Amino acid sequence: EKAGFEHFMLKEIHEQPKAYRDTMTSRISSEGDRVTLQEIGMTPDEIRAINRIHIVACGTAYHAGLVGKYVIEKLARISVETDVASEYRYRSPIITKETLVIVVSQSGETADTLAALREAKRCGARVLAITNVVGSSVAREADDVITTWAGLEIAVASTKAYTSQLIAFYLLGLHLAQTLDTQTPAYIAEVITALKELPAQVERVLEQADQIKEFADEISTHNDLFFIGRGLDYAVALEGSLKLKEISYIHSEAYAAGELKHGTLALIQEGIPVIALGTQHELMEKTISNIKEVKARGAHVLGIGVEGEDELQKAVDTIFNIPRTLDLLAPALSVISLQLLSYYASLARGNDVDKPRNLAKSVTVE
Ligand code: F6R
Repeated sequence: EKAGFEHFMLKEIHEQPKAYRDTMTSRISSEGDRVTLQEIGMTPDEIRAINRIHIVACGTAYHAGLVGKYVIEKLARISVETDVASEYRYRSPIITKETLVIVVSQSGETADTLAALREAKRCGARVLAITNVVGSSVAREADDVITTWAGLEIAVASTKAYTSQLIAFYLLGLHLAQTLDTQTPAYIAEVITALKELPAQVERVLEQADQIKEFADEISTHNDLFFIGRGLDYAVALEGSLKLKEISYIHSEAYAAGELKHGTLALIQEGIPVIALGTQHELMEKTISNIKEVKARGAHVLGIGVEGEDELQKAVDTIFNIPRTLDLLAPALSVISLQLLSYYASLARGNDVDKPRNLAKSVTVE
């Protein structure tokens, strides 16, 4: 069952190169210049009529939706809001026929997400689902479905389903950009080329798991820590923090690096671990100045950077580098290191990795 791995979570982490390939391959033209999402029934005119997008989901799927917001806004230039499903319905969201509501759910059975989908449909929006389970409630009730081909996920902590959701958002962003002409064909081809390199790059991250294990052994003796990042790195920081809490039971918070000095910096003291994500080139200088703020207060900074970049390396105490890719795609690599971090931290603490306390795989109550 576990194919030689000690836990389902580790097995599923290692299945990610395949999940990436299975989710993208049939949706990229053989020339590698276009994305075709045949499952989307919206005509070009219907896509042009969309004036806002709401992404609605829970937990890890919500975090994928935060990356989705960046990706769609950057590629398709449509305004996107990402919301937690258990909040969305109760704030009288402004939903019209020109709103595209995207629900993201691995299981396709999450009660709050399903209720948000129904509310969106009742208000006349078109609903697109990103789900891993063909024939699930969410898949059946949505107008369009992008299936993530991650395969069955057993560990309670989601890994390959989350990253396949990221791939789905990249493909969707490209699909919208092609239709709306918001990006040049050359740029679209460049993103597709970089997407196709991801599975092999994930393998390289996995090969360096020992390095992450050292980080994990270090943090496993602490009860509090911080994740910081800007832009897409912030979205990934939120997911890294959730995963760590979920299976290692170490308390952590993820902060937009620029927000620390508005209160949270008060919690930084001698020896506290701070995991700093610095994969976004345009934001590097600003991130480094935030790293200096925490280091000056005694934090021990573990950096997640990009190969061949030495600026971040100089600013942190220890570094783990992901392979070089486009900034837009970095989450699909950096999050793998954070999944491994949580896994090894949970292991070091002797927890039940696959079945963390108090949690269920599928949440069918509101
Ligand atoms: C965390 C985790 C949960 C789920 C959430 C939504 O690792 O797995 O946060 O992401 O319960 O579940 P789905 O995606 O099935 O709607």
